[in-house]
Amino acid sequence: MTPPLDTPSTALPLPHPLVRSQPAAPPSAQPAAPPKQTPQTLIDRYGRVAKDLRVSLTDRCNLRCTYCMPAEGLEWIPTPQTLTDAETIRLIALGVNQLGIEQVRFTGGEPLLRKSLEDIIAATKDLRTAAGTAPTVALTTNGLGLDRRAAGLKAAGLDRVNISLDTLDRELYARLTRRDRLPGVLAAIDAALEANFSPVKINAVIMPGVNEDSILPLAHFALSRGAQLRFIEQMPLGPRSQWRREQMVTADDILATLAKDFALTPATQPRGSAPAALWEATPRTASATPAGQLGVIASVSYSFCGDCDRTRLTTDGAVRNCLFGNSETSLRDLMRAGASDAELAQAWAGEMWRKLPGHGVNDEGFLQPDRPMSAIGG
Ligand code: 5AD
Ligand code: SF4
Repeated sequence: MTPPLDTPSTALPLPHPLVRSQPAAPPSAQPAAPPKQTPQTLIDRYGRVAKDLRVSLTDRCNLRCTYCMPAEGLEWIPTPQTLTDAETIRLIALGVNQLGIEQVRFTGGEPLLRKSLEDIIAATKDLRTAAGTAPTVALTTNGLGLDRRAAGLKAAGLDRVNISLDTLDRELYARLTRRDRLPGVLAAIDAALEANFSPVKINAVIMPGVNEDSILPLAHFALSRGAQLRFIEQMPLGPRSQWRREQMVTADDILATLAKDFALTPATQPRGSAPAALWEATPRTASATPAGQLGVIASVSYSFCGDCDRTRLTTDGAVRNCLFGNSETSLRDLMRAGASDAELAQAWAGEMWRKLPGHGVNDEGFLQPDRPMSAIGG
């Protein structure tokens, strides 16, 4: 049993044994193409199998988070280039029915801006995996408008929601997202809890000199509400030259701050391919805040690429094997040229086969992906 971490002033290590920054297996001896199997899986040369499909439903957004988008000037992908509902559902069905996808997460941009979101979710929930089960359906959203749609989304089959909230300070929220919309997000969290999504997660990206003072208020807020808060290390994905490795707020920095108010012990449940390291947090002094779990996603300082099980579909129909890197394959072009499901499956599997062992963010010479995060999907 690991002793509780109760020295607030020192840096606290994450539970290392649970993280694999590189795949365990070496690349296979035949790197040119993926093995042909029936049913096929989305396996890569290192033996990782993608089961979690992230679908970006639009690159547009009603916020302009400074770490994600420029204030203005970002060009949207023209609508004719984006997938129709029917094309989107065809590719999701292919992934679930034939390629081993077990979880589908809808992202953006802001996925609530897609009017047909409920229909796409219902169509996804109707699919069956090879094992005969419905896929788990999740949504990553900034929350705006969710208060009005939570019940309908639940009825359509949505299982889980992640709501982005980086601060509880209204003025700072407005500066950070360039929009004064904090009350809408708080209403979204209430509505999501009310609709009984299990779980309701809150994502908070922590940035140096911006919202470090929000770490403790967010923790007390989430524990009090019964939402699962996960702090996320900022990744080099936003407007260029904003991110410096040396200045980044690391997972250890976040834990050191949390330790001021909470005794922290690593959670005992197995982590699997989940990116968040979970901690049991118990308030140090008698407080209204109940004990509960807090998560930290250390994408940069303790990367978990070795256990990655993701594959991504952009709103214009490209499959990508990683958030980072510049490899992608347009299934849209193949589809619009009349490709069969078997041909699409082969192209998708081929893209995954090329997946690199890690994201390389810490390497010298790392280059940001050529698409903004809003056009890849978080
Ligand atoms: N680093 C880390 N997380 C990010 N997100 C957006 N941009 C970044 C970044 N540069 C998060 C959002 C949201 C999810 C879609 O991804 O805050 O929680
Ligand atoms: Fe919109 Fe999310 Fe990007 Fe913020 S981080 S601008 S909410 S897509």
